[in-house]
This record gives sequence, C-alpha cells and structure tokens, in this order.
Amino acid sequence: MSKKVLILSGSPRKGGNSDFLCDAFMKGAQEAGHDVEKIFINDKKISYCRACYVCRHTHKCFQKDDMTEILDKMIEADVLVLASPVYFYAIAGQVKTMLDRTLPRWTELKNKEFYYILT
Ligand SMILES: Cc1cc2nc3c(=O)[nH]c(=O)nc-3n(C[C@H](O)[C@H](O)[C@H](O)COP(=O)(O)O)c2cc1C
Repeated sequence: MSKKVLILSGSPRKGGNSDFLCDAFMKGAQEAGHDVEKIFINDKKISYCRACYVCRHTHKCFQKDDMTEILDKMIEADVLVLASPVYFYAIAGQVKTMLDRTLPRWTELKNKEFYYILT
C-alpha cells in the first residue's frame, strides 16, 4: 500500500550530510511506490513558539508563517522522517523551533511511522 511520506530536512546545508541521507531515503521510498515530499526547513519561515497557550483552545497558532502548512502536512503523513545535524550534543535549533511549533496539534501526531536521521 502506498504511503504518504514527509521528509523534514533540518540542516541549513543543502546537499550536506543530513540532506544527502534524506535524498537517499526519498529515492528508496519513491522506488517502493510511496508518495514522498521533502521539506527543507531552513527555507521556511518558522518563528519561535511564544508559549502563549492560545492554541490550547484554538488548536491554531496566532503566528501566520510557514508552520501552519508544515503542521498540516505532518498530520496528513503516514511516515515522518526528521533529519538534523548534531549541534552541541542536541538537534539543530531550526529543527527544535519547528518541533516546538507543533504544540497546537501535537496530540494529532500519532499512529505514524517515524524515522530520525541524525548526523
Ligand atoms: C554549531 C555546530 C555544532 C556542532 N556540534 C557538534 C557536536 O556536538 N558533536 C558532533 O559530533 N558534531 C558537531 N557538529 C558537526 C556536525 O554535527 C556535523 O558536521 C554534521 O554531520 C553536519 O551535518 P549537515 O552536513 O547535515 O549539516 C557541529 C556543527 C555545528 C555547525
């Protein structure tokens, strides 16, 4: 059965180690007949979570940036692939900022296959 695969490529280096592995994952998934999209996080406008908790009631963020569309796609996907370089023993700030912004609908991010690529 064909699955919707969303690859979140989290390094600022296009074609770098993480992005290269994302492309390898994408090639394999496409060859297996899956519907694959890769998002290069660094190209997107994603502001920090302000922890205002308005989203607790609205399930939407008051900030209008690219995260609305990314979060919709994350929830629609059957398979999530998150790639990040290691920056000082942690994931890259861009990736963490994106993960924090899943707060409005994080409870919907379930029943998925999840792959983590760390370089
Ligand atoms: C700000 C910064 C912090 C880093 N911290 C670490 C680290 O703690 N441990 C490590 O092994 N490599 C560290 N590195 C190296 C990167 O993790 C490594 O080169 C990675 O493969 C780069 O991935 P990319 O090609 O996808 O950008 C750091 C690089 C940068 C730019």
